[in-house]
Amino acid sequence: MKKSISGFSKLSKRRKLRWIVENFFKDPENVMRELMSYWHRNEDQQKILDGFSENTISNYFLPYGVAPNFLINGKTYCVPMVTEESSVVAAASSAAKYWSTRGGFTAEVLSTKKVGQVHFTWAGNFQRLQSVLEELKKQLLQDVATITHNMRNRGGGVLRIELLDMRHLDDDYYQLKVNFETCDSMGANFINSVLENFGQSLKRFVATNPVFPDEEREVDIIMAILSNYTPECIIRCSVSCPIKELGAFSNEIDAEAFAEKFYKAIKIARVDTYRAATHNKGIFNGVDAVVMATANDFRAVEACGHTYAARDGQYRSLSYCTIDNGVFKFWLDLPLALGTVGGLTKLHPMARRSLELLGSPSAKELMKIVCATGLAQNFAAIKSLVTTGIQQGHMKMHLLNILNHLGATDQEKTIASTYFEDKVVSFTAVQHFLDGLRTKKKALKFIKKPPTINEEI
Ligand code: MEV
Repeated sequence: MKKSISGFSKLSKRRKLRWIVENFFKDPENVMRELMSYWHRNEDQQKILDGFSENTISNYFLPYGVAPNFLINGKTYCVPMVTEESSVVAAASSAAKYWSTRGGFTAEVLSTKKVGQVHFTWAGNFQRLQSVLEELKKQLLQDVATITHNMRNRGGGVLRIELLDMRHLDDDYYQLKVNFETCDSMGANFINSVLENFGQSLKRFVATNPVFPDEEREVDIIMAILSNYTPECIIRCSVSCPIKELGAFSNEIDAEAFAEKFYKAIKIARVDTYRAATHNKGIFNGVDAVVMATANDFRAVEACGHTYAARDGQYRSLSYCTIDNGVFKFWLDLPLALGTVGGLTKLHPMARRSLELLGSPSAKELMKIVCATGLAQNFAAIKSLVTTGIQQGHMKMHLLNILNHLGATDQEKTIASTYFEDKVVSFTAVQHFLDGLRTKKKALKFIKKPPTINEEI
């Protein structure tokens, strides 16, 4: 067994896979065949997928589902969702259908500013740098004119440059904090290119501007990078209706009692961090699934959302609920940096279809759809939690996974699904049921089949 190697990245894909199976698996030939069976049969398509990452040896599959009936600002969407978790798509679909008969979702983009920073240290006189700030900004913008040209034509570009004195946090530490508008692209590459260029321009500016004495000419650029925290790239999505129109719920809970319990559940997630984490995880079940389906950056979206959830110093719920004058209102404020052009949005074949399914939305429209899906997911989770509990529905959806795990045949799956319709699903219960079914089947076979001569003997 050889567990380390040099020059791995230079090997062909087939040789990489061969080395992996021979050194890490007990049954190399079978594993090789299995991993190769997930290669795309269209070689050109496979090359595009391989181009997204490095050292690829196969493809990793996840289910691609849809949640229809999402009525958002009067328009109906069928939302594509990529998730491995059972119940997520079912929950989003049922919440979407529920709200589609109660006015649907109302979504509003509050702002679309992105942020980037050039972090630098400098042992100079801050007032002197401030005195030439306007000149510096002009120079910075001039030096990135070719990079920003297209974005400016689309109505975006650099919105604002601030020079921040950060010496209260570290010696000689300063920052250029930059706001961007990146239109329909998520903008990470654009922002980072501009920022790296700003860093070099800043160095040159200070090294050559006559205002600085010789001992102040050296700027040390620590790093230049976008911030994934975009509290001013934010979308609000809400649902609301008179309490009496909420209807009746499982376990004989009426609309009034439901609204009250729901309101309390949201309040708990605002004040209790342990609950807030799970509450927000439920929101991201929906958000991430659409973000993935459209090949956007779910790590960026998660990092931003969780940072925003802790913006006042305590991690809290991202959603809110009010009950005023008999009206139930539930909403979600979410910072979301998304793109519908650039990145992998057009390169990934499924992402391209997802965007087509959504009617080729702008980035702002996609923000609305993603936020509505997060809100729907959150509504469905809280609705279950305050009425039946989530396990009943969740385990029903999980039944198929358990049956697959136990190697059930199609016929066994059909019989088990009917049997468990009104019963509590658990791994043990399904295992017992299958064992019983299989024993019965064996017995029946034995009865039906006349014994052979050998068996008689
Ligand atoms: C499970 O993936 C998500 C929930 O736990 C969310 C919640 O508790 O609100 C059901």
